[in-house]
Parts: sequence; structure tokens; C-alpha cells
Amino acid sequence: MNFKFPKDFLFGCASSAYQIEAGAKEGGKGESVSDHYHTLYPEKYCGGDPAFAADFYHRYREDIKDMKELGLKSFRFSIAWTRIFPNGPTEVCQAGLDYYDDLINALLEADIVPLFDLFHSDLPYWVIEMGGILCPEFVDWFGDYARVCFEHFGDRIPYWSTINEPSINVMASYAYGTNAPFLKDMDLAIKACHNALLAHYRAVKIYKEMGFDGKIGAVIHVQPTYSLSFDPKDIHAMDHDFAFYAGWWLDAMIKGHYPEVLADNTYYMGKLPENYQEDLEKYFVPVDFIGVNFYNPSHAKFSETDPRGYETFRNESYPTDDYGFANYPQGLFDVAMHFKNTYPDLPIFITENGISKRKWGNLEEERRDDYRIRYLREHLREVSRAIQAGANIQGYYHWTLMDTTEGYAGGYKFIFGLVQVDFETKERYRRDSWYYYQKVIANGMVD
Ligand code: NOJ
Repeated sequence: MNFKFPKDFLFGCASSAYQIEAGAKEGGKGESVSDHYHTLYPEKYCGGDPAFAADFYHRYREDIKDMKELGLKSFRFSIAWTRIFPNGPTEVCQAGLDYYDDLINALLEADIVPLFDLFHSDLPYWVIEMGGILCPEFVDWFGDYARVCFEHFGDRIPYWSTINEPSINVMASYAYGTNAPFLKDMDLAIKACHNALLAHYRAVKIYKEMGFDGKIGAVIHVQPTYSLSFDPKDIHAMDHDFAFYAGWWLDAMIKGHYPEVLADNTYYMGKLPENYQEDLEKYFVPVDFIGVNFYNPSHAKFSETDPRGYETFRNESYPTDDYGFANYPQGLFDVAMHFKNTYPDLPIFITENGISKRKWGNLEEERRDDYRIRYLREHLREVSRAIQAGANIQGYYHWTLMDTTEGYAGGYKFIFGLVQVDFETKERYRRDSWYYYQKVIANGMVD
């Protein structure tokens, strides 16, 4: 079997501002949620001070040289909202714009195509103080921020994503209590999801009205859900789990409505604001592409007691990484086929895919990452197979280029990078997987 990729395929790496920049108080940057809460609630943020991150803020020029040597065709990164609007929704920070100007120009000089997210998990603290994602004004704040970014960088960034993993970000803040404002209220969570969707629509509309040649989409965490059995009740459980977790955002962003399959699920649909249908009809603007973050599958079965009508479970037969992700490469093929069949022709990018180990403290040993080489090979084979089977996948971004903070999901405990960062000195070291990915890119195929 031949695992080749198309000539213009975008082999990339993904990362995000708060996870690698540091420079938390430089360039006029305002406080983000994790800047603010990591000291107040060290246990919630796993002791992970974003100011301790890899220092990409100062070292991006050297890091871009390294990306160039790696052969990267594209780099997915985010703009920190707190660098552009540090203190509130009106005052723009020139130093923030200058910083990203320079970073974007350096990527372009290196022939690396930028794909940028407007919002990747680092909500400004002022947003929380003023009412959070739930607040109706959130839609305008986000729209105004997006407009400033498009005005300044829109001529050079050809691919934009509005929000990274809204399903996880909004639920973490309103349903799971793991991120600010730390609520566990499903009623509010669904309303916040709807408001986040309206904010996304607003940004897409502004972008399109500004008449750029580029493309705009959003990055969604997509888990293929599999059913426990052939029992129609389990199949129904599978459909509902997938529809809420991923289909919710996909259908709303691509087709302008929530998944039809959830129509009878009052647990979810009953929590939406009364006028939600009107909102969708009035504000929907379709995306040009979807970014798919793929890590693991989900499994669902019928439940009499769970208010959703189903529950999810782990399939113990799949190996699990230290972070807790079950490893099932074929799931990526299945997801790609779902897109091909459900949203024919819509371009997708695999915007994240990666594996981690818990650090054990021996830097030399931690560079020998055969497990990541295996993971890359197996997942890229699925991407190639899916393209050959007709899926419109235009790029693959490995998560991640260099070691990060996982924020509220693990601080600095986990290794995800092709490049190791010694967090004491901020020195970078290439892992074995870096050299493997370099060969893949150079050959345009996987072995
Ligand atoms: C998805 C998130 O977008 C990213 O920020 C995170 O680090 C990875 N998953 C790994 O957990």
C-alpha cells in the first residue's frame, strides 16, 4: 500500500499562544484567565504558570528557523486576545499588533503558511469580570477583536479559525467546573455554547464582508463515537453522543442548524434560549473549512438513568497514553469519511493530532520517543488512506511543535512536542520524532 500525499499537502505543526509564548507581562499584554487563576487555584491549573512556558515570545525567530529545517509547510498558531485587547473591549494595544506582525512576516519569509486561531483557550480575564461567554455582549467583543485582527493581518493570513475546540472550552467553563468561571450547570453551558456559536458567526460574517481571498473556519474536537452493540438503543446513544459532542458545532457552522438527530433530546435542546432558531436563521454564515482535532474515539451505550439518555465508556482494548487518550488511528479515517459523506466537498484540515507521556525527569531519555514515531506513522497512514478514498483533507498539523503547558488539563506534566524544551533554561532539543517527521515531509509520504 502506498501512503503518499498530494503535492500541495500542508504538512504542519500546531500550537497556541498561551501554551508556548510566556512574556506574560510584556508588550502590554493583559491578564488571561490562566494568568489570573493559576496562583489563586494552583490545584485547578496544575501549578502551571503560563509565564513559565517555552518563551516563544522572544525566541520565535530561532523557532521559525527550526520549523524551516523541519520542512514545515504550515504553522497553526493563535493570537492571544489579551495582547490585542489587554484591558477591556475597546482599547487596542499596538505592541500586540506589532508582535504578531513580525511573527507572521517571519513565517511568510520562511515560506510557512500561517493558519491562525483567534481564540485558543486563553480568555481575557476582563471577559470573565464583565460576564463571560454567556454575556450577550460577548458576541460584540469577539467580533470587534476579530475585526481588528482581520484589518491588521488579513492580507497575510490565508486561513483563520475563529474558536478552537468550543465543545471543550465552553463545557470546561460552564459544565465541568474546570476553567473559569468554574460552573457546573448544564443549563448555562448550553446557553453559553449557543452564544459562542453566535460569536463565531459574527467573526465569519465580518471576515467575509471585508472581502479577503483567504478562508475562515473553526477547529472542532471530533471524536468518532462507536456503539456498544447492534441494539437500536445503543445505536441511538452513539448518534446522540456524536451529535452533541461534534455534530452540534459542525452542523451549526456548516449548515446553520443543530443536528436533526437531537430534535427529540430535550436534555440538550430544551436548554437552548427560546429564540435560538431565529438566531440561527438570522446570523448563520457558513465556514469555508473545518479544522479537525483528532485524538481519541468515544464509545456510547443506552442508559436509563443518565439524563442524556446515554452514557459514554472507555473501550479497554485500546492502548491509552499517559494523558488519558485512547489510541485508535482508524478513528481518524472514520472521521474523514464522516466528513466526506455528510459535508461532501468541504475542505478539512487535521488541525491537531498527537500523543503524550508524563515527564519522568531524564531529559536525555525523554528525547527517545519511538512511541511518537509510531503514532505519527499510524495516523498519517490513515490520513493518506482517507485522501485516496476521496476525503478532502488539505493538511495535517501535528500537536505539537515544542513542549507546552496543558493549562488546567495538566500544567507542565506532559510531553507532547517534537521539540523538547528544558523549562529551566528554555533550551530546545530535537526529539527522534522531529527527524522522522522531517523525512515524511521531505518524501511526501509515510513509510
Ligand atoms: C487540544 C487543545 O486544543 C490543545 O490546546 C491541547 O494542548 C491538546 N488538545 C492536547 O491536550
